[in-house]
Amino acid sequence: MSNINNSAPVVTIDGPGGAGKGTVAAAIAAAKCWHLLDSGALYRIIAVSGEAADIALDDTNSLVALCERLQIVFAAERVQVDGQDLTEAIRTEEAGSSASKVAALPPVREAILTLQKGFRRAPGLVADGRDMGTVVFPDAPVKIFLDASAQARAERRYNQLKNKGLSVNLRALLEQIQERDARDRERAVAPLKPAQDALIIDSTQMTIEEVVAAVMTQLASKVG
Ligand code: DC
Repeated sequence: MSNINNSAPVVTIDGPGGAGKGTVAAAIAAAKCWHLLDSGALYRIIAVSGEAADIALDDTNSLVALCERLQIVFAAERVQVDGQDLTEAIRTEEAGSSASKVAALPPVREAILTLQKGFRRAPGLVADGRDMGTVVFPDAPVKIFLDASAQARAERRYNQLKNKGLSVNLRALLEQIQERDARDRERAVAPLKPAQDALIIDSTQMTIEEVVAAVMTQLASKVG
C-alpha cells in the first residue's frame, strides 16, 4: 500500500471482548476525524469466510491463502468481503468464538499483520483489538488497555441481545466469554495483555462517556 504513513499518530485500545473497545474506538475516531481499525473484524471475517468455504479452523495454509486473496472493504459502517455484505454475519457469538480459534494460529496473525499496518494513515488511527499496542503498533503514542469484569461484560452482552429480541442465557454467555478470554490470554503468540506503557482503564463501573473522556484526556496530553 503506497500511502501507509508510519509517522501518523495511533491510539491503541486493547482488551477482552465486551469491554467496550469498539464503541470507545469509534467515538474517539469520530471526535478526531481519524481512521478506525477494528482488528477483531478481520479475524471474524477470516473465520466466517473460511467456514463458508469449508475450510477447517485449524487448516493454517488454507486460512493464510484466504487472508491473502480476500477483498475486504470497510465503508459506511458496513463490511463487504469479495462483494458480499458480511456486517451482521461476523457479529454472532459463534463468529467471535471461531475468530478466537483462527487468531491462535501464528501464520494467520502474520498474514493479518500486513493488512492491519495498512490502516495507519494521516491524520491518525484509532485501532482496537488484543495486540494493537504490544505487536501491531508498538510505537503508538497512546495505548489503552480497557478491561471489565467477565460478569459485567456478560451482562452488557445479555442486555444488547435481549434488546434485539433474542432469547439468551446469561450463564451460557458468561461461560463463552470466559472460554474466549482464556484462549486469547493463554495463546503463545500475541496473547491478550496490556503493553508495558498502556494506561489501564477498568470500565466495570464506568459509562462509555466516562471512558471516552478518559481516553481523550490521555490523547490530549500525549499528542495534543
Ligand atoms: O474484538 P473481537 O471480539 O471482535 O475479536 C474476535 C476475536 O479475534 C478475539 O476473540 C480474538 C481475536 N483477535 C485477536 O486475536 N487479535 C486482535 N487484535 C483482535 C481480535
